[in-house]
Formats: sequence, C-alpha cells, structure tokens
Amino acid sequence: MKKNGDGSNTSEKNVKRPHFGIFSDVHSNLEALSVVLEHLEHQGVNSYLCCGDIVGYGPNPNECVEKVRSIKDCFVVMGNHDAASCGLKDTAWFNKYARATLHWTENVLKEENRDYLYRLPRMITGDNYTIVHGSPRDPLNEYLLEEKQFLENLGYFGTQVCFIGHSHIPFVVLSQSSKGGIEIKRLRENETIKLLPENRYIINVGSVGQPRDKDPRACCAVFNSEETEFNFFRLEYEINKTQEKMHEAKLLWKRYQT
Ligand SMILES: [Fe+2]
Repeated sequence: MKKNGDGSNTSEKNVKRPHFGIFSDVHSNLEALSVVLEHLEHQGVNSYLCCGDIVGYGPNPNECVEKVRSIKDCFVVMGNHDAASCGLKDTAWFNKYARATLHWTENVLKEENRDYLYRLPRMITGDNYTIVHGSPRDPLNEYLLEEKQFLENLGYFGTQVCFIGHSHIPFVVLSQSSKGGIEIKRLRENETIKLLPENRYIINVGSVGQPRDKDPRACCAVFNSEETEFNFFRLEYEINKTQEKMHEAKLLWKRYQT
C-alpha cells in the first residue's frame, strides 16, 4: 500500500470520515425525537450515534424504537431503561416514577421492539469514538459525575472521545495529557468544540426527551469526525402534547426526575 507523508495510506486518505448526529435518552418522547432527527438531517449528517435509553418515562415507546430502528447507519447502545424494559435489569433499582412507567412499557412493547432492545450492545467503539450509556467502566449503571470517576474511566476506553448519556446533563470533560489534570464544563447551546489531538474527551450529549439541567428543550449534537469538531444544540418541541399523552396513559409526570 502506498504511504502518504503523514503515515496514512492512499486508500485511507481518500475515505471521508462520518459526520455523526448524536442523541441520547429519548425516553419514549416522540415529539422531542422527531424535532431532533429533523434538525440533525438539516445539519447534513450521514451517520447517527445513540447513547441509549430509547424507552422509559414517556408515552411512545414503540414509535420511538421504530423511528430509531428505521434510521440508516445508526449505531445504538443499550441504556438502563432499555435493559429493564426487556427483562435484563431488575426494576427495583429505579425510582417510583421510572418503575411505574417501566412496567407499563414492558406491557405495551411489541415483541419485535423488545427483541431489538434486548440485542443492543453495551458499548460501541468506532474509528475515533466510543459510545456507552452510563460510563465505559460500567455502561448500564454508573453515573459519571465526579472528577475521580472521570479520571478512572479514561482507562476504560481507547479512543480520543467517548460519548455518554444517562445523567441527562450535558457537559464535556477534557483530559489534557500535557497538564495531567482534567477540566469539566457544562455544554452551552450552539457551542462548538474543536477536539485537539493531544487531549482526550468524555462528552455527555444530554437528553432528547427529559433534560435535567433546568432547560426543558431537547438536546442533540453533531460530531464531524473528519474535522474532529463537535457542535451542541437545544431545540424546542411540543412538550404539552407529550404531557397530554402521558396524562391519557396515566403515566406519572415529575419534572427533572433523578
Ligand atoms: Fe435516561
């Protein structure tokens, strides 16, 4: 194979890396998911990454699973609510709001959608990214919130960036090898982050269907893996419509569940 000046070979040089739309924690919220997917399409993405929890809490589990399943080139990992809704995790671990909806979700999920959730992987490692739901060390359960956890988890994935969800709080953790420490900061609307080759990153992309940072708008992101550039977005959706459906289905509603 002919080598280029930078050490790559010619065939690698000619292959454009994907432009990913990234989303997480849909939680059966069809209105929010529809707005997010429409926005990501307008951003010109050609692949998608989903960090889990397609179902749980919200009123449209089948519709949301089917919408995600229908996306071409979408890489999806399992979340803790996905696991519980198909019998892979005990619902006793969840708070009363989540538990009540998980039992409802288990009952209404079509067999083919349950089977899809059952088969989702816990972790996906791509060319230059990793995706998990909670953390690389414990993909289904760990909430990554503390500095010590971030430092420990850097040893559990091998790529430059790991995208996560689970806490529903959008933030970026930057590990600078030159300085030895880490920096943690909240992601702001329309923020662009250029990923520098000397650093490693853990990025929580927030939640589509149930953000918990006191901003009810849906979260999503774009990762241009060619330019190693990340963009974060917040989007309005018809939240009243979702709440009405939850009321009709007699699902419990509590803002900013933990
Ligand atoms: Fe979640």
